[in-house]
Amino acid sequence: MVSFTLIALTGICFAPFTTAVDITVSSGGGNATNGHQYGFLHEDINYSGDGGLYAELIRNRAFQSSERHSSSLDAWFPINGAQLSLNNNPSAPLSDALTTSMNVAVSKSEGTEVGFFNVGFWGMDVKIQKYTGSFWVKGGYTGSFTASLRSNLTGEEFGSVSIPSQSQNDQWTEHSFELTPSKSASNSNNTFAITFEASGVSGDSLDFNLISLFPPTYKDRKNGMRIDLAEALEQLHPTLFRIPGGNMLEGNTNTSWWDWKNSIGPLKDRPGFSGVWGYQQTNGLGLMEYLEFAEDVGMELVLAVWDGLALNGDITPQAQLQEFINDALNEIEFIRGPVDSRWGSLRAELGHPEPWTLKYVEIGNEDWLAGAPEGWDTFKNYRFPMFLEAINTAYPDIQVISSGSVYDGYDIPAPGGGDYHLYAEPDTFVSEFSKFDNVATPHLIGEMASAHPNGGSGWNAGLMPFPWWGGAVGEAVALIGYERNQDRIIGVAYAPIIRNMNRWQWSITMLQFAADPAMTTRSTSWYVWELMAAHIMTETLPATADFDPLYYVAGKNEKTGGHVFKAAVYNSTDGADVPVKLKFEGAAPGTEAELTILTGPENAYSINDPFTGINVVETSTQTVTSDEQGNFQFNLPNLSVAVLDSAPKVKRRWDRSIKQKW
Ligand SMILES: *[C@@H]1O[C@H](CO)[C@@H](O)[C@H](O)[C@H]1NC(C)=O
Ligand SMILES: *[C@@H]1O[C@H](CO)[C@@H](O)[C@H](O)[C@H]1NC(C)=O
Ligand SMILES: *[C@@H]1O[C@H](CO)[C@@H](O)[C@H](O)[C@H]1NC(C)=O
Ligand SMILES: *[C@@H]1O[C@H](CO)[C@@H](O)[C@H](O)[C@H]1NC(C)=O
Ligand SMILES: *[C@@H]1O[C@H](CO)[C@@H](O)[C@H](O)[C@H]1NC(C)=O
Ligand SMILES: *[C@@H]1O[C@H](CO)[C@@H](O)[C@H](O)[C@H]1NC(C)=O
Ligand SMILES: *[C@@H]1O[C@H](CO)[C@@H](O)[C@H](O)[C@H]1NC(C)=O
Repeated sequence: MVSFTLIALTGICFAPFTTAVDITVSSGGGNATNGHQYGFLHEDINYSGDGGLYAELIRNRAFQSSERHSSSLDAWFPINGAQLSLNNNPSAPLSDALTTSMNVAVSKSEGTEVGFFNVGFWGMDVKIQKYTGSFWVKGGYTGSFTASLRSNLTGEEFGSVSIPSQSQNDQWTEHSFELTPSKSASNSNNTFAITFEASGVSGDSLDFNLISLFPPTYKDRKNGMRIDLAEALEQLHPTLFRIPGGNMLEGNTNTSWWDWKNSIGPLKDRPGFSGVWGYQQTNGLGLMEYLEFAEDVGMELVLAVWDGLALNGDITPQAQLQEFINDALNEIEFIRGPVDSRWGSLRAELGHPEPWTLKYVEIGNEDWLAGAPEGWDTFKNYRFPMFLEAINTAYPDIQVISSGSVYDGYDIPAPGGGDYHLYAEPDTFVSEFSKFDNVATPHLIGEMASAHPNGGSGWNAGLMPFPWWGGAVGEAVALIGYERNQDRIIGVAYAPIIRNMNRWQWSITMLQFAADPAMTTRSTSWYVWELMAAHIMTETLPATADFDPLYYVAGKNEKTGGHVFKAAVYNSTDGADVPVKLKFEGAAPGTEAELTILTGPENAYSINDPFTGINVVETSTQTVTSDEQGNFQFNLPNLSVAVLDSAPKVKRRWDRSIKQKW
C-alpha cells in the first residue's frame, strides 16, 4: 500500500491496466527534410485582399471597371448637396488604366463646404495614429481641401487636415497629405471625407480619382498590409506562401485571368481586375506587394503561373500556348532575374534591385477541375509538359509543380511535382495519415482544411460555421503524416486563410476579421498550425511504435541540436488519456525538454467565435525530464495535439506582442 502511494505521488504512475505507447527513436537512419514548409494560400476571396490584408481603407477608390463589373459610385456619398456622378468619358483620363473619375458638381451660390465621403470596407478603424492619403483632382479651384475622419453614426470628427489646392483646369494634380486624428473612435462605423469651398470652384464641378487612405502598415511598407492581420499570419511562423491563388489566377475567361503585369508599377497604372468572387478588384495588392510581404515575413514562394485554362473552360490550343509560357518566363525573370535582364531591370526600377528567391513554380490551379475532361487532358497532353520543359531549361533549379496530384490520375513526369488539395471531414484527414508514404513524386499540399463535420461529407453538405477543435485535431494528424514524408512533401498550405465577416460564403478560414480589429480572431486551427510550424526537424528518424490513436513523428533538428516529437491523439479508447514513453537513442538520461499540449473543450465542435472573443484552445507548456533509462513519460489526452522539443527555438510571440481579447 505504502509503495503504491509513493509511486502515485511521484506522478509517473499510469492509469491502471493501461500500457504506455512505447516509442524508441533511432539516432540515425532517417530522411533529411526540406526544413518543412508550413504556410498558406492567399487570394483576394470576397474582400480578404482589398478590404482585408491590403491596408487601403477606401473602397472603390478609383471607380475601376472590367468586362464583368462596370464602374460605380459604390461606397461614396455626397456632403451638403454636392452632386456625384461618374465621368466615364473624360477628355483626358487620369491614365490609360484609370479612365473613369468621379465628378462632383457644386452649387456655388451656397458658398458652403461641400464634398463627399467613403464608408470604407464596412467601416474604418480610427485611432490616434498617422494616416497617409492622396487623391487626384482636375478642375480650377482656389482654396483648400479638408480631409477628415468622421463617425458615420454621430457625425463627430476625429481629426482633419487642410490641404492647399494646386488643382487646375484640364490637368490632373495629385494631392498628398498626412492625417493624425486627435481622438480614437469607439467603434468602426466611420468614414473618410473630402470637402472644399463651393465658392472657390471656377467651373461647376471638380473631377476626383484614385482617392486613397492608409493607416500605418506592416513593416511600414508603402501600399502595404494591415498590421493586425499580417502579424497574426507572421505569428504562424509560415515559411511558404502560395500566390496569387487559387481560382483568382485562373480568371473567369481566358481574357480575364490574374495578369501579373497589370499589378505592378504606380497605382494609377493598374487597371484592376474583375476577379472571380463577384466584385471588382483594384490590383493594389499586386505581385510586388506579395513579394515584399513574403520577404518581410520570411516565406518562400510558390508562384502559380497562368497556363491556358480559365474557370469557364476556355483552353488555349497548343499552337497558341507559347505566348503564355513566355509570359511565365518573363514573370520568373521579373522575380529572380539579374538587374541587367529585361524584366529584372523593371523590378529594379520599381525599387527592388535584389532578386528574390524563387524555387517553386506551379503550373495553373486545379487543372483537373475546370473544363473537365478536356481541361485535364490537355494539361497532361501538352500544357504541363511544355511549361515543365521550358521552365526547367531556363531554370534547372526550379521545382515545377503540376496543379494536380498523382491522386488526380496523373503520372507526373519527372522532375515535376504535384499539388494535392483536400477540404474534408476530420476523419478523412486522419485516414490521410499514410497517404504519401509510398509516393515518390514530390508533392505540395497546396490547400487543406477540415471543412465538414464527420458524417457531413461532400462539397455541398454543410460546412461548419467556423473551424472547430475536432477539425483542427484531424488536420494535425494529417500534418504529422505529411511531416513523416517531408523528404518529398514540399510543404503544406492552409486555405483559404482569412475571412471578412462582412462578406463571405466559405466559412472555414484560419483568421476571421472585419474593419474593427477587435474582430480579428485566430481559429482553433491557427493554434495547431502555429505549434506545428514552431518546431522544425531537419531529419525524421525511424521509431518503433504503431499508430492509432496516437499519431506521431519524431526527428531531430541539426540547427538546434534538439530532438523533436509531434503527436496527436484522435479518438482514444473510451476517451482515456494515452500514456507515452518516449526515448531518443543516444540522448543522455536527465535531458530536459519542453512539452506543449493543446487541448479543447469536452464538446469537440467548439469554435473560436469572433463575436465573443472566446478562445477554446488550451495551451499548456511544461518542462519534462527523461528518467534514468532516458525515457520521457507523459500522458496525452483524447483529442490533443502535442510537441516535445529538447531545444525549443520559437517563443510563443503572440503571447506578448499583441493585445488579445482573451
Ligand atoms: C456599425 O457598422 C457595422 C458594420 O457595417 C454594422 O454591423 C453595425 O450594425 C453598425 N452599428 C451601428 C450602431 O450602426
Ligand atoms: C454609413 O452611412 C451610409 C450612408 O448613410 C450607409 O449607407 C452606410 O451603411 C454606413 N456605413 C456604416 C459602416 O455604418
Ligand atoms: C480562348 O478561349 C477560346 C474559347 O474557348 C478559344 O477559342 C481561344 O483559342 C482561347 N484563346 C487563348 C489565347 O487562349
Ligand atoms: C461573397 O459575399 C457575398 C455576400 O456575403 C456572398 O453572397 C457571396 O456568395 C460570396 N462569395 C464567395 C465566393 O464567398
Ligand atoms: C525515409 O524514406 C523512406 C523512403 O520513402 C521511407 O520508406 C522511410 O520510412 C523513411 N523514414 C523515415 C524515418 O521517415
Ligand atoms: C474521445 O474519444 C472518443 C472515442 O473513444 C470519442 O467518442 C469522444 O468524442 C472523444 N472525446 C472528446 C472529448 O471529444
Ligand atoms: C471519432 O469520434 C467522433 C466523435 O464521436 C466521431 O464522429 C468520429 O467518426 C470518430 N472517428 C473515428 C475515426 O473513430
